[in-house]
Amino acid sequence: MKLLFFLFALILQDQGKPPEKAAPYYPTPQVVVDRMLKLGELKKGEKVYDLGSGDGRIVVAAAQKFGATAVGVEFDKSLVAQSRQRLLSLNLGKLASIIEGDIFEQNYADADLITVYLLPITNIRLSPVLEKTIKKGVRIVCHDFEFTEWNPEKTEVMEDTEGRSHTLFFYRR
Ligand SMILES: C[S@@+](CC[C@H](N)C(=O)[O-])C[C@H]1O[C@@H](n2cnc3c(N)ncnc32)[C@H](O)[C@@H]1O
Repeated sequence: MKLLFFLFALILQDQGKPPEKAAPYYPTPQVVVDRMLKLGELKKGEKVYDLGSGDGRIVVAAAQKFGATAVGVEFDKSLVAQSRQRLLSLNLGKLASIIEGDIFEQNYADADLITVYLLPITNIRLSPVLEKTIKKGVRIVCHDFEFTEWNPEKTEVMEDTEGRSHTLFFYRR
């Protein structure tokens, strides 16, 4: 009986845990967003997830410019509200959506492409989580910080409109 109570308390405690901040909010410049989606070979009708979607700019571009079904995952309530408002005002509600939640707790089984702009330490934790749910052949594009356990199929260095350098890594799992 004591053991049951202990297990129940553990489950409750785990459910109440707030998501761990995997990276601060730092938006990808628009020109880099467009390049990430192109490098990721995104096609009309495919499904793309942006992990830690910020103001939703990757989700917006994927739906608006590529005709993809785009899902952002974001835990910051104000960024979630801001990006949902943007999707609404651009009339993208049918193609694009934002999940308010933890990137480590989602299922990415239906993803064709996943975009990531997080931290190196986060990517180390994230790769085994992704490996558990992604389907074979899924494409992943990272901005600036790579997945050190995986070999990129392509790496690109580009400049944004202010002359800052960005590195993009393309993986096919
Ligand atoms: C570097 S920003 C990237 C924003 C956007 N993807 C872009 O490229 O413009 C990282 C984002 O991840 C979000 N984030 C951090 N930890 C998270 C977590 N555990 N679950 C969901 N979102 C998270 C932050 O709030 C932030 O918006």
